[in-house]
Amino acid sequence: MKNFQKLDVFLDFAWAQVSRGRADKKSPARHPTFVTSSSDNFPRARTLVMRRSDRKNNEIEFHTDTTSSKMFFLQEDPRAGIHIWLPKVQLQIQMNVVVEVKVGDITTPNWRDVPTNSRVAYGTTPSPGTVIPSPLAYDHAPDQKRFAVLVCHIQSIELLLLADKHIRAQYKKITNWQGEWLSP
Ligand SMILES: Cc1cc2nc3c(=O)[nH]c(=O)nc-3n(C[C@H](O)[C@H](O)[C@H](O)COP(=O)(O)O)c2cc1C
Repeated sequence: MKNFQKLDVFLDFAWAQVSRGRADKKSPARHPTFVTSSSDNFPRARTLVMRRSDRKNNEIEFHTDTTSSKMFFLQEDPRAGIHIWLPKVQLQIQMNVVVEVKVGDITTPNWRDVPTNSRVAYGTTPSPGTVIPSPLAYDHAPDQKRFAVLVCHIQSIELLLLADKHIRAQYKKITNWQGEWLSP
């Protein structure tokens, strides 16, 4: 296990893990938990596939159906949480993000990159989460109008490493990611 003494080295390590989530289908960073809140509901957590990560611009991207409940929650409050647990390296990554929702023509370049057989995920009828009379009483036809790109602008990152001695740190955009150690 690495012994991190420098805040920037610790953050570099975490970003390397996040980037692997895009490249390596087996990395747990490929499937973060995405958490939304709303004023009159319980917080809601769900697994999403990470479609892109961009350290330079501090962004992580997901794709979803425009009629899914997360779209409604994000309209009410664009703030969300992202959680990743990487058991091999014993690292937990938590992020606070502000989500920019892209729909319509602006998503065309992203839509072109979605493999044809995956496009059916965007266009289920009835809409995701609707009560149906039996398990397979739904249909799906790909529909770009039902395709949303969620660009998550990272505001803060918190890391917890379970080493012999646990190590925890937080980094914030407003302090230009300089970071500070936290008691674990
Ligand atoms: C491994 C895995 C990957 C998933 N990937 C996505 C995804 O990329 N986009 C998505 O909208 N839902 C994805 N889902 C389904 C979501 O977890 C969730 O059930 C769905 O988006 C509806 O969520 P909502 O009603 O909270 O909006 C995935 C589920 C699993 C188990």
